Amino acid sequence: MKAPELMTKIQATELIKTKLKPKRLAHSLAVAKAARQLALRYEGDPEKAELAGILHDIMKDYPPTEQLQWAEESAIIIDNAEKENGQLWHAPAGEAYLRLRCGIEDADLLAAVRFHTTGRAGMSKLEQILYLADIISEDRKFEGIEKIRVAAEKSLTEGVMAGLLATLQKLKNEGESIHPRSTEAYWELAGGRK
Ligand SMILES: [Fe+2]
Ligand SMILES: [Fe+2]
Repeated sequence: MKAPELMTKIQATELIKTKLKPKRLAHSLAVAKAARQLALRYEGDPEKAELAGILHDIMKDYPPTEQLQWAEESAIIIDNAEKENGQLWHAPAGEAYLRLRCGIEDADLLAAVRFHTTGRAGMSKLEQILYLADIISEDRKFEGIEKIRVAAEKSLTEGVMAGLLATLQKLKNEGESIHPRSTEAYWELAGGRK
């Protein structure tokens, strides 16, 4: 049975249509589709995965200062590494918006949105599904994506690890800062791999 506090797919889609520019809207729907497929393949909750995909970037087209404001005023802890990187703000801001404005109480869905940019150690299945779906959705095109898609066919863990590794390498090559949560996520999965 569906948790009563979750909004429907139609409500969520209507909502993001009012928030996102066309390209980001298309991306969000592509991530929703990928998340649903991953959930079906790896015994997750396809409905919740799809909803998380639709909603994950809900705040990304807000001005960065407003994103940070949403995050900071909502009792979410923003660490220094996060505060220094404006690319990351839409994730805590998204959690805040969904919780405070939309009344979503599902902790797993909120965490999936909260950590979709960096990942973290101890990710739930839904968190892993959203993290990976955001990287391999059909609208994504970058060098090396096929390798991640192949890994995602093997197992959810392999897919998430490949996604994390590609992200870490890209940030390193570009001289961008790497959030410690991403490194922790990678090493936890690499350590636990059988
Ligand atoms: Fe995002
Ligand atoms: Fe995204």
